[in-house]
Amino acid sequence: MSQKKPSKCKKKQTDEISLSKKRNTRAGNMGIGYETAADFAKRGANVIIACRNKDRAEAACEKIKKETHNQDIHYKLVDLSSFASVRKLAEEINQTEDHLDILVNNAGVYNVGNQLTEDGQQLLIQTNHYSPFLLTNLLLDLMKKSKSRIVNVSSLAGMAAKMDLEKLNKYNNFFTDYALSKLCNIMFTIELASRLKGTSVTTYSVHPGTVKTEIIRDSGLVAIVSRSIIRTLFKNATEGAQTSIYCAVENDLEPFSGEHFEDCHMVERYKSAQDVWIAKSVWAKSENVVQLR
Ligand SMILES: NC(=O)c1ccc[n+]([C@@H]2O[C@H](COP(=O)([O-])OP(=O)(O)OC[C@H]3O[C@@H](n4cnc5c(N)ncnc54)[C@H](OP(=O)(O)O)[C@@H]3O)[C@@H](O)[C@H]2O)c1
Repeated sequence: MSQKKPSKCKKKQTDEISLSKKRNTRAGNMGIGYETAADFAKRGANVIIACRNKDRAEAACEKIKKETHNQDIHYKLVDLSSFASVRKLAEEINQTEDHLDILVNNAGVYNVGNQLTEDGQQLLIQTNHYSPFLLTNLLLDLMKKSKSRIVNVSSLAGMAAKMDLEKLNKYNNFFTDYALSKLCNIMFTIELASRLKGTSVTTYSVHPGTVKTEIIRDSGLVAIVSRSIIRTLFKNATEGAQTSIYCAVENDLEPFSGEHFEDCHMVERYKSAQDVWIAKSVWAKSENVVQLR
C-alpha cells in the first residue's frame, strides 16, 4: 500500500511523506499518544495502542476507527510500572507481528510522588525510562527486520537536569525526578543510535512542546494558571503530536539518528545531554536495573 500525505506542524511543514507499506506502530490511548496513533491510522498504518486501561484502550480504538475508517487499530495491555508486564507485551508482539516499523515510546507520568513499584524502583523513573528502555530492547530484533524508527518522547525539562545515577534510585522531588527521567530518554536515544549504526533502525528523541493534556492537569498547573491563558499559550494534543509524527515518518531523517527534535526540526543537544560517556553509563545502569542480560 502506498500513501502520500503531509504531516502538520506548528512551525515547519513536513515535505511529502510516502509510506511504501503498511506500518505497525505503538502509541497511546490519550493525550499526545492518542493523537499520534490517530495520525498513523489516517495514513493507513496498522496501529497497536499499548496501554494499561482496557476501557480507555477500547474507546480509543473505536474512536480512531470511526474517525479514520481504518479498521486495523488494535490494543494490547501493558503496565509500564511492571517489568513483567512489559516483558509479556514484548513477547506478544514478537509472536504476533512479522515486522514493526515504528515504535513510539510516549507514555509518561509527571507528579506521582514517592512510590515504589513491584520491581523496587521509583514509579516515575520506571514508567518514564526503565520500561521503555526494556520494551525497546526486547523489540529490537523484530524492528531490525524492516527499515524502522524508534521515537522517544522526552521533554525540555531534560535540559534542567544534571545526570546523577544515584538520584535515579530514590525519590528526590517530583520535578527533579521528572527532569532526570526525561534526560534519560535523551541519553537512551543517543546511546541506542550509536548501537544501531549499520542496522535498518534509527531513533530520535522529541520535546513535544508544552501541551494541554492530563499530565499538566495532574501537576496542578491548570489550577494555578487560568484556563484561557493555558488555551492561548499551550499546544493542543494534536499540535503536541506533530514532532513525534515527523520523526516517525519524515523522509531522509536517517543520518540524524540519535538527535533531538522540537517543533519538527532538529535542535542542538541540551548541555545536560552532551556527554556520550554519561549516556553510556545510563545505558549500563538501565541494563542492570531491568536485567536485560
Ligand atoms: N504535556 C506536556 O506539556 C508535555 C511536555 C513535555 C513532554 N511531555 C511528554 O509527552 C508524553 C505524553 O504525555 P501527555 O502530555 O500526552 O500526558 P497524558 O495525557 O497524561 O498521557 C500519558 C499517557 O501515559 C499513560 N501511562 C501512564 N502511566 C502508565 C503506565 N504505568 N502504563 C501504561 N501507560 C501509562 C497514560 O495512560 P492512562 O490513561 O492509563 O493514565 C496516558 O495514556 C509523556 O512522555 C510526557 O512526559 C508532555
